[in-house]
Amino acid sequence: ATIYPDRSNSAGPNLDISAQAEPFFAQLQEYQHCQWQAHPIIDGESVSGATQTVCSPRNRDEIVGQVQWATTADCEHALMVAHQAFPNWRNTSVELRAKLLETLADQLQAHQVELIALCTREAGKQLHDGIDEVREAIDFCRYYAVEARKLFRPGAPLPGPTGELNELFVQGRGVFVCISPWNFPLAIFLGQISAALVTGNTVIAKPAEQTSLIAHRTVELMLEVGFPADVIQLLPGSGKTLGTALTQDNRVTGVCFTGSTQTAQLINRSLAARDGAIATLIAETGGQNCMLVDSTSLPEQVVKDVVQSAFASAGQRCSALRVLYLQAEIADKVIALLAGAMQELNVGDTWYHQTDIGPVIDTAAQQQLLQHIADMQSRGRLIAQSPMPEETNTGSYVPATAVEIESINWLSKEQFGPVLHVIRYKKSDLNDVIAQINATGFGLTLGIHSRNTQLALTIADRVNVGNVYINRNQIGAMVGTQPFGGQGLSGTGPKAGGPRYLPRFITEKTRSNNI
Ligand code: SER
Repeated sequence: ATIYPDRSNSAGPNLDISAQAEPFFAQLQEYQHCQWQAHPIIDGESVSGATQTVCSPRNRDEIVGQVQWATTADCEHALMVAHQAFPNWRNTSVELRAKLLETLADQLQAHQVELIALCTREAGKQLHDGIDEVREAIDFCRYYAVEARKLFRPGAPLPGPTGELNELFVQGRGVFVCISPWNFPLAIFLGQISAALVTGNTVIAKPAEQTSLIAHRTVELMLEVGFPADVIQLLPGSGKTLGTALTQDNRVTGVCFTGSTQTAQLINRSLAARDGAIATLIAETGGQNCMLVDSTSLPEQVVKDVVQSAFASAGQRCSALRVLYLQAEIADKVIALLAGAMQELNVGDTWYHQTDIGPVIDTAAQQQLLQHIADMQSRGRLIAQSPMPEETNTGSYVPATAVEIESINWLSKEQFGPVLHVIRYKKSDLNDVIAQINATGFGLTLGIHSRNTQLALTIADRVNVGNVYINRNQIGAMVGTQPFGGQGLSGTGPKAGGPRYLPRFITEKTRSNNI
């Protein structure tokens, strides 16, 4: 029996196998110096206007391309096109829409090296993260194609009086605005869009300011495989200007957002203030993710999973570990091993496969994180910091840092970078620890390390989060395997890559026919 009867997750090149790595690197070189362009795309046409330069977080002197931000006039045009296109697109067959997604998945596969180069050069991602990013985007397309066919499958007539035919149908809601983050500039960008389109909605996509180039290239690929020009509009640009204009407009029937909790709350208020139809909001936001490690755990395994969870992708995942709770009996051992492991981490340029920790997204993030590290160091105790390369270019690098603190209450917000906070707890304080974690109001991921299965399951049950990981790392949710998303301040649900994601994008219609 196969795990996925109707689909399997994709596989990218394995860079540790030379037969796969050599052709990959040869092709990657073609994209080392090239530049890309991004413009608003409305009804299939690129809008022309003044552009600004995009620099790489790996090295601020490296130019990756030029982007032209959309204006409020572009916004109005995009709304008009998306609104007019909706009835036709809603009435297309689910088979046509699902097939388009599957063809797009093939197209992403064919262009994977270029997309990985864009992830690395525009977003500063490590190569293997770029590989996983393309795989996840492909998986979203194929998964939602399968799920949409199930969702739109005609059901049996509903029971009713003799002579009356009662049927229930599903259909798209209207215009969906998809607002995506820079940390998964392809996978989340496309995950949102593909879900909205395959369920019969038209889309206006507003990618993060920092990653417009890869978003633009992706929409070009969508148009190449035959998505009708009027169903997908791309508006690169400022969240403040475009986000406000879009969420205040009554033609928008749903918003799918991934980003900060604060921005999700702004969008929620903006939608609620409209006097038109009540819009759907799907928000996937931040976390204050913890891992609990009890004295039965295996320290070496704990350290491996902590390093991955806290520092992979330079800690720029909403799933990443921020607060490590160590039971007192095991704390010194784990801390000593962790400090040793952190000395081995390579911080540096992500063009190289050996790098463990790449740059954070921009100088503002870098400055904010360095300030936070200084604050924590002055109040708490520095455990370890990974060495920085001797020669640093102008990239926005932050060393992986672990600092011991007294309480989770020291952290007023999520720190989106490679900073781990460590807290010791006594076994008798476990109930308080659980209460403190729940009191943050966030509820995204939780890691547990314990050989006491019953205790691990009890903790998993009592902490209010969306994704729990026991005796493993707590990042890298796989489509269809770990449906991903949180609760409380961490989001509205439903879970991306899960069986109940698409239903949030549709509306239902009952028809009772007294034949
Ligand atoms: N889905 C990502 C992960 O699981 C986070 O956004 O790491």
